[in-house]
Amino acid sequence: MIKIFDTTLRDGEQSPGFAMNIRQKILLAKQLEKLGVDVIEAGFPNASPEDFESVKLIAETCQKVEICALARCHEKDIEAAIHALKGAAKPRIHVFIATSDIHLKHKLKISREQAIEKAVMGVKMARTFTSHVDFSPEDGTRSDRGFLIEILSAVIQAGVDTINIPDTVGYMTPQEYGDLIGFLRKNVPGIENIIIATHCHDDLGLAVANSLAGVLQGATQIECTINGIGERAGNASLEEIVMTLKTRQDLYQATTHVDTTQLLATSHLLSQITGQKVQANKAIVGKNAFAHGAGIHQHGMISERSTYEIMKPEDVGFSSTHIFLSKHSGRHGLVHRLNELGIDLPSEKLDRVFVKFKALADKKKHIYDEDLILLSTEGEYQRKFELVSLEVISGVQQTAKINVCFRMGEQKIDLVAEDNGPVSALYNAIATHVELPGMLKEFNIHACTPEQEAVGIAYITWQEEEGVVWQGHGADTDIVIAAGYAFIDMLNGRDVRQQKLNKK
Ligand code: KIV
Ligand code: ZN
Repeated sequence: MIKIFDTTLRDGEQSPGFAMNIRQKILLAKQLEKLGVDVIEAGFPNASPEDFESVKLIAETCQKVEICALARCHEKDIEAAIHALKGAAKPRIHVFIATSDIHLKHKLKISREQAIEKAVMGVKMARTFTSHVDFSPEDGTRSDRGFLIEILSAVIQAGVDTINIPDTVGYMTPQEYGDLIGFLRKNVPGIENIIIATHCHDDLGLAVANSLAGVLQGATQIECTINGIGERAGNASLEEIVMTLKTRQDLYQATTHVDTTQLLATSHLLSQITGQKVQANKAIVGKNAFAHGAGIHQHGMISERSTYEIMKPEDVGFSSTHIFLSKHSGRHGLVHRLNELGIDLPSEKLDRVFVKFKALADKKKHIYDEDLILLSTEGEYQRKFELVSLEVISGVQQTAKINVCFRMGEQKIDLVAEDNGPVSALYNAIATHVELPGMLKEFNIHACTPEQEAVGIAYITWQEEEGVVWQGHGADTDIVIAAGYAFIDMLNGRDVRQQKLNKK
């Protein structure tokens, strides 16, 4: 059995463009639990108050799966991890310290001996709270093998149950990485009773291959992320790892606890939340992963599927993705589908979602899972801003004019503006009125579903100042209105953050 350690919410979330707010993280964590991963690395609690809060809430919400918190070998980090994990049914702490000479010299500015001391202190402190402790020698693949043996045997004596070997900069090839895992398995004293884990980055596009090479040499845990998101080029992709193990059981002789039919839903949920679509030809979850274009392939498929298909699309959840509700569906049907998606709404929120669902169903024929996720993840807090109405006049060779009405607290505000395009007219007018400094950093519109009547989802990132960014998303069948909702969503997120800070 290979343990799947998902780090989408930690290593994945920390990469640019993948930031999630707390409610989005909880939704994704619930889906990961449903997917059947063994461990969810929920975040790095000492990194920020938001990280702390989200690890705490995920630990309290997801009780069937191990919830892991990351910590450097610093007392403050480990204290924060322990506090954040108090409510977890199955807590785990992941401590790490860099071990390569390049990191020791230039980043940490400490000796190898000091690194061992810190690592042992970190593990012992984490062990006072839980016996489930991982240790990672960061940049392990560029570390001296002799030193790795020393530090790993020290942390084993200090009480870890898992040793994770990060290829932090994605430098290794499969042969080298497998060789390193085999070497450590044979040479580190005490490692025979310890889980060896892989953690590979994809800088050379080898993260999945490296992780699997590690499995062939005795690793029994893989750290990976949904859609392969993560620092720089990303981490090893969970769906590719799991489906390779399943499809090539003859070679790996290993299984996982993952319910593979949930892979596509999980991948879609992550895309919905972050606004980052996976490429069409992405293995396992890309739109074309099971599409057969060439006539000769289609002919083969019709005669006998196995001519061109090594996995069944339904095994990764493809057949269930286009199940839809419509305006004829009632509350019962909506609740049933939401529950299948792992979304359990309190009755008051459900009432609001049902009203929005009916309004949307009047505008478009089919309501897809993606629509439902979006409707039910809209703000759960008191919204200060609300888009009341928006009229747009735009055309070829003329400036766009907008007429917008929005609510700000108790006030209703009407603005008229002109610009090159309706979205910039709208954003500039509202930003000026509410005295929001900064500028639009990113703007993306995606069709949520494949047809012409699709809901467009607008994702925006606003940079208020260096290091202060806000995100928002909104959906509508009219994409300019979707852009308006996204701006309002961003203002509400900013407002909630400011209220929290004022309370402190
Ligand atoms: O890539 C890396 O080295 C990490 C560690 C914190 C495990 O993410
Ligand atoms: Zn990493």
